[in-house]
Amino acid sequence: MSIQKIILLIILFVLSISTCRSNNLEEFGHDCQAYPSYLESFIEGNNIQNEISHYFNNIKMVENKVKLIDVSSFGAKGDGNTDDTRAFKQAWQDACSSNTPVNFVVQQNKNYLLKNIHFLGPCKSFISMQIFGTLEASDNMSDYNNDRRHWILFENVENLVVGGGGTINGNGNIWWQNSCKINKNLPCKDTPTALTFYNCNKLKVKNLKIKNAQQIHVSFETCTNVEASNLMINSPENSPNTDGIHVANTHNIQISSATIGTGDDCISITSGSQKVHATDITCGPGHGISIGSLGSGNSEAHVSDINVYGAKFYGTTNGLRIKTWQGGSGSASNIKFQHIDMEGVENPIIIDQNYCDQNDPCKDQQLK
Ligand SMILES: *[C@@H]1O[C@H](CO)[C@@H](O)[C@H](O)[C@H]1NC(C)=O
Repeated sequence: MSIQKIILLIILFVLSISTCRSNNLEEFGHDCQAYPSYLESFIEGNNIQNEISHYFNNIKMVENKVKLIDVSSFGAKGDGNTDDTRAFKQAWQDACSSNTPVNFVVQQNKNYLLKNIHFLGPCKSFISMQIFGTLEASDNMSDYNNDRRHWILFENVENLVVGGGGTINGNGNIWWQNSCKINKNLPCKDTPTALTFYNCNKLKVKNLKIKNAQQIHVSFETCTNVEASNLMINSPENSPNTDGIHVANTHNIQISSATIGTGDDCISITSGSQKVHATDITCGPGHGISIGSLGSGNSEAHVSDINVYGAKFYGTTNGLRIKTWQGGSGSASNIKFQHIDMEGVENPIIIDQNYCDQNDPCKDQQLK
């Protein structure tokens, strides 16, 4: 075995710096006029969009039987001060046990203060959660003593749509100040991900603003058949470990129209992920789109079939990155980056096989 046991099998690594001009950048970054026609054939060719959409077509057929669940009728105040966690939990129980499809509504012009909350499945029917207003995280760190790794967690849910155009505010300032990355005297401790989907299948997450996450903004872990679209993600450039979209051990995910400005990776794709397609991504500030890190703690990691088609980077530290730790093993294969536009990017393409993200220096490992 070699020092670098991670073997990067980049079968196809296509990079074309597009000449598309950025002078008419809109909020969601649709300024490349060439996208749609390319995109269609790209998606058709891979059939992912169709595969995922297929699951949701059934919803329309039963539309007239939809059960409306409004969190305010469970006592949620939405005044920004009252802890509404209990009301949300009760509303979810009702939603999850419904035999007919559910429209779970979070009203507009309200600000619901929430401690960490676990939306646990399996549920009996389709659930569409429409967040029109704002969900705001409690910034009392001891509220997370029961689970310091998640704020809002959806687990084991199938046929779920989360959208509505509202805002998810992680209120992360207190976590950033207490991060070991910011204050080297503090121990490194778990910090919540704002929005986590764990073991979800047939999932759509669309039209949401997610800001000031405690750590990662949105994480898809061990999910299948996911469509994530029209997401606006925003945290300060100096906020620590605030990845925009994190994809771990997830198969068949289409990320489209995401505008991400943050303190860490705009998108990170880690071990066990397959068929990850990202289109129309705007990134900056941030650390770019990363495959990895892979292979930490001598682990075996595999990622394959990653397509990034149409991404713009503005003032990011990195553009396209693959990062692996010494001592790990595995592969990163069939990775394509196409139609990439960069401005003011420090490391446009970086393959780092000596990645080290810890306080103690990583010692060089010897050939065995
Ligand atoms: C923070 O939460 C803990 C336990 O959840 C509680 O005892 C404490 O009073 C809270 N602190 C503030 C400032 O609200």
